[in-house]
Amino acid sequence: MTLDTALLGQLDAEAQQENPSSAFAAIGGAVAVSAVVEEFYTRLLLDPALVDFFTPLVESDGLSALKRHQVLMLTKVLGGPDRYSGRDLRAAHAHLTITDEAYRRVSLHLLTVMHDFKVPMDILQAADDILRSVSSLIVTGAAGDAR
Ligand code: HEM
Repeated sequence: MTLDTALLGQLDAEAQQENPSSAFAAIGGAVAVSAVVEEFYTRLLLDPALVDFFTPLVESDGLSALKRHQVLMLTKVLGGPDRYSGRDLRAAHAHLTITDEAYRRVSLHLLTVMHDFKVPMDILQAADDILRSVSSLIVTGAAGDAR
């Protein structure tokens, strides 16, 4: 499990109190978001076009911290509680030389996993809008940059 069960419960309880009609609550709350994130990184690590970005993290045991940050980031952008404590998106990706192509591939993986987990189309649409709007914070590589 990406987050401990106590934190999962807290996120759901706080979401119910503060914003029960959020996309976060609608898709099944913290357990659903954690499951999406687990599957998302499984697919990124299985994608030959992307795996090299993540190998250093796997080797330094940083993958579980990344997953935790990603769960909290997604929870926040889906209208759930704001517990995100990672770096801002620009700072987190500045050293990675991410191309637009890699960005679109990662975005597609995320949307596909959400679709596979039966996330409704209006929420997928909103997620796609957000992904498009933050791309300039993350993409710093020119087309054709080697990986
Ligand atoms: C699609 C939108 C994306 C979102 C919302 C996102 C979100 C995040 C978050 C929340 C973190 C953790 C920051 C921290 O721990 O302080 C992170 C780190 C990271 N992301 Fe992304 N990311 C996105 C796209 C990408 C892409 C396209 C790639 C590579 C192709 C990528 C590779 C990484 C890597 C390797 C790290 C770890 C950096 C490090 O700790 O050295 N991300 N991302």
